[in-house]
Amino acid sequence: MEIVKTIAEVRVQVKEWKKAGLSVGLVPTMGFLHEGHKSLIERAAKENDRVVVSDFVNPTQFGPTEDLASYPRDLERDAKLCEEAGASILFNPEVEEMYFDDRTTFVNMDGLTKELCGKSRPIHFQGVCTVVSKLFNIATPDRAYFGQKDAQQLAVIKRMVRDLNFDIEIVGCPIIREEDGLAKSSRNTYLSPEERKAAVILSQALKIGKELIEQGETSASKVKTAITEKINTEPLAKIDYVEVVDFNNIEPVENIGDSTLAAIAVYIGKTRLIDNFIIEK
Ligand code: PAJ
Repeated sequence: MEIVKTIAEVRVQVKEWKKAGLSVGLVPTMGFLHEGHKSLIERAAKENDRVVVSDFVNPTQFGPTEDLASYPRDLERDAKLCEEAGASILFNPEVEEMYFDDRTTFVNMDGLTKELCGKSRPIHFQGVCTVVSKLFNIATPDRAYFGQKDAQQLAVIKRMVRDLNFDIEIVGCPIIREEDGLAKSSRNTYLSPEERKAAVILSQALKIGKELIEQGETSASKVKTAITEKINTEPLAKIDYVEVVDFNNIEPVENIGDSTLAAIAVYIGKTRLIDNFIIEK
């Protein structure tokens, strides 16, 4: 596996692969990789001849008061994980390689991005859509892999690819969890030991919501209430949102149906964590 820093190097390599008739998978990440990322890379390696992993802490998707400066980084460890998982290229550009100072073009989405995480992170999805579009244009993959961990992001990317005719198949991958149920996240490293214990409340609350639905509950508001009440039993937890929406358009639903997404964002101390489940009937 090669670590490359420039767009030109990725392009040259991908062109060679394509000339040889090889398929290309892309896994966009912000690094500090864990088993969740690894599952995406392994899947990409299984389904494509070559895999590009991007490792770039994208400044444009962080708000002014968010954790851009403190976002954890460890390129050496990331490279090892990528190699083990079957990546061919680890693309790790500097900010200057990805962005012109006088840039004026952005990818903006009207729907899907205003609710859930978009409420407290108003510029987040513009940053995500812009950087992912750039990565798509740089790596020109046949398939790109995204985790359901960031369900709204997955829905947004699927919609962008549809609306803008990117010739790329978007593959959604299941959430990988710690043994106690906490969804794996680079941000879990921010948690103190006490907060780490408290963070299990997210998956526990969602489990209650899911079980209610499995027992036949169809009212979205009742499911929301059950999830909210459970989270509120944890003194260190502060709810940002608990929402039940249609996964395809991120609009609130009254009744649980096919592809209903129950999504939560909860502060544990200062750390904002997200988790969700999707009902597929
Ligand atoms: P990052 O948070 O590094 O996540 C990269 C990919 O890994 C995303 O598709 C995310 O959903 C997936 N992922 C993270 N934790 C996971 C878990 N526990 N189980 C399964 N998949 C998981 O998401 C981003 O970076 C950025 O917004 C990015 C798309 C790279 C654009 O900058």
